[in-house]
Amino acid sequence: MIIKPRTRGFICLTSHPDGTAVNIKNQIDYVKSQGEIKNGPKKVLVIGASTGFGISSRIAAAFGSGAATIGVFFEKPAAEGKPGTAGWYNSAAFEKEAQNAGLYAKSINGDAFSDEIKQQTIELIKKDLGTVDLIVYSLASPRRTHPKTGVAYASVLKPIGQTFSNKTVDFHTGIVSDITINPIESQEDIDNTIAVMGGEDWKFWMEDLQKAGVLADGVKTVAYSYIGPELTFPIYRNGTIGQAKNDLEATASTIKTILSDVNGEAYVSVNKALVTQSSSAIPVVPLYISLLYKVMKEKGIHEGTIEQMYRLFNDRLYTADGTIPLDAEGRIRIDDWEMREDVQQEVDKLWKEATTENLGQISDIEGYRNDFFNLFGFNFGSIDYEAEADEQVNVPSI
Ligand code: NAI
Ligand code: NA
Repeated sequence: MIIKPRTRGFICLTSHPDGTAVNIKNQIDYVKSQGEIKNGPKKVLVIGASTGFGISSRIAAAFGSGAATIGVFFEKPAAEGKPGTAGWYNSAAFEKEAQNAGLYAKSINGDAFSDEIKQQTIELIKKDLGTVDLIVYSLASPRRTHPKTGVAYASVLKPIGQTFSNKTVDFHTGIVSDITINPIESQEDIDNTIAVMGGEDWKFWMEDLQKAGVLADGVKTVAYSYIGPELTFPIYRNGTIGQAKNDLEATASTIKTILSDVNGEAYVSVNKALVTQSSSAIPVVPLYISLLYKVMKEKGIHEGTIEQMYRLFNDRLYTADGTIPLDAEGRIRIDDWEMREDVQQEVDKLWKEATTENLGQISDIEGYRNDFFNLFGFNFGSIDYEAEADEQVNVPSI
């Protein structure tokens, strides 16, 4: 079929199999250009492995460290005249590239929050790898069905305590407008968001893996968090999602205890704000990102998910002397360049100036848009989007 982008709000309903393959290939090439991650991971489980930070983690492990990888995700193949999801095509392209490079790669498509998918994953590890030495937890989801109670939780993106008013942008049109977001009405909004995006599911995974005896001695696990600037605090770090991130960060020490038998370590890495399917859904954040991109590109310190994940592995998790640089709260920081004072001061200044009229000049809204379409395999110069594409691409191991 001929596949063009079709968007509804911050969602792109279509994905291009050949374009997503270019995106994956570019990420692999980047990792290869950086050289081998010495003492890197060898058998890696990535939970949330199909898009964003997760697919980039998988690529960094496989092509930077020669790791065998198992990826868990929730994606859809093509059906009824509709192309598959970007994460489906990403995973198809990744597995093919891994196979060509002689690297083990298998994937499991299903609800990672369920006990069933956890057990399926454990069986696959037992059968093919024996143990894993790194578990990356990179799930982002608006809902979770609790595996023990069957209760379905939906997360919300709301401030706590006060109404929040600020600027936001529709990144398709470039129109800057004021947005007002009402605060939570009850504690339930916080509890639900923690149930979805907090640390419980990460803990469940690590408990099940530990009980099954599939963790290598000295195993590491890492989950991803975000802090960001003060201007997004009401909607992010001090909002409902921030409460979930606090919970996730606190879970790292619980998991460390669970892993003590195998001398394991659990970390949270605070990552940079980047265009992904998840971050484009958060109000105010796209405008912040488009200003941040402008400033960081001008300073020559811009990174995408693959640059971030390579740096996480090479300069943080697997350093030459084995020490992992941490902040005062015990977190890994690869948002260090985003949070640099000179960067934040400039973003702050631009934030105050930003209007629909000047956005094209003072921000990198174009770069934002391009990254967004790239996520779905669009806007790649090497692809002929007028040509028929084979949407029935399969993930080889599924
Ligand atoms: P994403 O939306 O690109 O990736 C989410 C992944 O989770 C996909 O692989 C998807 O298939 C998988 N997934 C979702 N629900 C699932 C389910 N029920 N079962 C199995 N797989 C499921 O998101 P992104 O942005 O890469 O986020 C990953 C983590 O990084 C999140 O914890 C997020 O908060 C964090 N983070 C994101 C930042 C950003 O700016 N995008 C910044 C810092 C941290
Ligand atoms: Na991800």
